This record gives sequence, structure tokens and C-alpha cells, in this order.
Amino acid sequence: MLHRIRTSQLELGMFVHSLECSWLDHPFWRSRFLLTDPDQLETILSSDVDWVEIDDRKGKGPPKPEPARPSAQVKNPSIVSASPNATVMQPILRPVERREIKRLSPRERAAEVRRASSAINRSRTEVMNLFADARLGNSVKSDKMAPLVERISSSVNIDPSIILNIARLKTKDEYTYLHSVAVCALMINLGRKLRLPESQIHDIGMAGLLHDVGKTSIPDEILLKPGKLEEAEWTTVRNHPQRGYDMLSASEGVSEIALEVCLRHHEKMDGTGYPGKLAAEDLSVFTRMSSICDVYDAITSQRPYNVPLSASRALAKMQSWSGHFDQLILRDFVDSLGILPVGTLVRLDRNELAIVIGESPSDFSAPIVRSFHSLDKDAAIEHQDIDTGRPKSRNLVAVENPEDMGFSDWSTAASNLLAKPAAM
Ligand SMILES: [Fe+2]
Ligand SMILES: [Fe+2]
Repeated sequence: MLHRIRTSQLELGMFVHSLECSWLDHPFWRSRFLLTDPDQLETILSSDVDWVEIDDRKGKGPPKPEPARPSAQVKNPSIVSASPNATVMQPILRPVERREIKRLSPRERAAEVRRASSAINRSRTEVMNLFADARLGNSVKSDKMAPLVERISSSVNIDPSIILNIARLKTKDEYTYLHSVAVCALMINLGRKLRLPESQIHDIGMAGLLHDVGKTSIPDEILLKPGKLEEAEWTTVRNHPQRGYDMLSASEGVSEIALEVCLRHHEKMDGTGYPGKLAAEDLSVFTRMSSICDVYDAITSQRPYNVPLSASRALAKMQSWSGHFDQLILRDFVDSLGILPVGTLVRLDRNELAIVIGESPSDFSAPIVRSFHSLDKDAAIEHQDIDTGRPKSRNLVAVENPEDMGFSDWSTAASNLLAKPAAM
């Protein structure tokens, strides 16, 4: 059986199944091994890896859980008395470290929303022109798009959620253009999260912008078809990476990263993607990033053939598809978007504890939370559901570690809190 433990709990004799870190930070060339060497243990303990998965069928089991520290305990037990008939939403629970939540002030945010909206409007026109040129068989002038990538990059730097929330609202007709802008922004944001060299970030953003240029070879009646595609239509669609690669190869100044991402963004880790059916060992970090960013934007956007998913549902879905994505990069992707999964324990202003129950319809990075406990009074409070994305709403102060707050079984407490009805 696999167990997820803190790195500090790791002991000699345990079988390491996986280290939770980007493969770039992985301290060993092997990902699975029996831990017998004290030097190896020391290397892991001194690395940036916080969590490890161990397999107790191949080595020592996990340490026994320690009782919760009484000093930090939330005493009121009312949160665990939900009706057994209540509908329980399953929380997605990943252990978290305490961290402060810093958001732009309302004035700063409003200014950045204006800037990002105008960047998106200009981008839409520029990408439409680029695609129109490509459709006519002209070479792709990627250098002309460099200022656009820089504009997107600086907006992502200030607060990625702003430009990504705007780019998510696409009409069906502008999907292809704004999808390119969104994938550009997502790639830049993820590249920074993975701490890739800043010298590569521009090429990564450009790769996102150009990845679907081959779609200009697909007739609109197929591209915008609302129903199911015929086999021959699918073949045309599946050709777009190769067509795009050919277009970019014939153009000047297109980086290797953009060429590779264009050709490989529909490959999957298990080798079932297209066009090359390449598996993990042949897929670079850029390709792995691009398939995540591409699918995330596709399933969270309005398209001819389906309704968009919320950000957190999309991410949960993507995490459940085995063999498609690099799951470690996907975890970094979730973190890079600043999305707090359902079930996360947070502290609000007025020193109240709350649990994340969803996301604001207008802003995926602003959760809807259910308050349940006052730390000042050390007492349960009437549950209230709060959309933190609404203007003048309550402020989130920090993400809290449930253990530090005295919850020895946060999973059960969270399920009960999520099951309780509450008024907004
Ligand atoms: Fe594509
Ligand atoms: Fe795409």
C-alpha cells in the first residue's frame, strides 16, 4: 500500500515510491528505490522535497500518527455532528503548509483588470491577423508577436488570475484566437512556477501562442462543428500539429521550443497521443507543460461542442486521467493558478476559520468559503457561505495546516462541514 508522509518522517528501510517535486528538482536519477544509504536519506532531507510516497509492501511502513497538539486545538466539537442523510461533497485533500494569502488591493486589481482587458483585445486582433496570414500560406512572423508575448508576460507577473479569468470568457467564434493567448499566459505562468530559466520564458510563451497555428488548415465547418466528428474529419483535425510544424519550420526565427510544442502538444505520457504516439521518455518538459495548459484551457472554455467546466472541476478531472499528463507538473500547474481545492482550511479576517467549498463564478482564484469557528472566542459560529470574489467581501488571510489548528482528523471534519447546509 502507498502512504504519503512528510519527508522528515522518512527512515532507512522505507521504499520510496515517489518524491513530490518537479522532475527538474528530483535529486536522484531513479524515481523508485529502497532507501538503504544514509547519504541518500540526507540528500532527500536537505532537498526542497516536502512530501514522499512510500510503499509498505516493499519496505518499512509509515510512522504512527502523533496526537494533535492540545494547545492549538479547536475545542468546539459541533462541526462533526452533521446529519447522516446530508449529501457529502468529497473534499480534495492535500496536506498543506501554512501560508499567508496576499492579493492586490481593490484599486490595484481594478487597474490591472483594465490593463489586462486591453492587452487581450489587442492580442485577439493580432492573433487573428497572424492566423489569417498563415491561412493564405504566408510565413509566420513570430518576431511581430514578441511585444504581445511581453505584454501577456507582464500581466501574468502581476497576478495571473486576472488575465486568465478574462481569457477564459471566449465566444465560440473567437475560441481559437483567445485559446492561443490563454495557452501563452498559462505556459508563462507554469514556466515561472517550475523555475525554468527566464531566458526560456519568452520562447515558452511564444510556443503557447503558436501551438495551434496548424488549425488554420482545418476548414471552419469541421473546426466549429457542434456535433460529433466523422472519422475523416478527425483525421483532418489530427493533422494540425504536423501542418503547424511545417508552417513554422518554413518561417524564420521560430525557436526550437515553439517547433517542438507545436508538433507534440497532443502527445500523451502513455504513448496514446498523436501524431507520433511518443511516450514519456521522449516528451520534453515543454511538451508536457503544453499538453496540460492546452487541455485545461480547452475544457474550461465555451466551445462549439461542450459547456465549460469550472477551474477546480477541470483540474480534478485532469488529475483523474491516468496516462495523459505528467502528474508532478500538473500539481505545479494547480499551484501556479493559486486555486484552493475544496476542503482547504483557511483563516478569514476577524480571526475566523473557514473551509473552501467552491470557487467564485467570476474569479477562479477566489474561493467560496464556509466559516465555522471563531478563534478569538474559541467557539463555533453559525455557518456562513462567503463568495470571496464579490466586491467588498471578507478577506482571506492565510491557508492553515489543519494539524496546527488541532484537527487530528481533518478529513472527517471537512466532510461534515461540507455536508452542512448554510445560508449565504
Ligand atoms: Fe492543438
Ligand atoms: Fe490547443
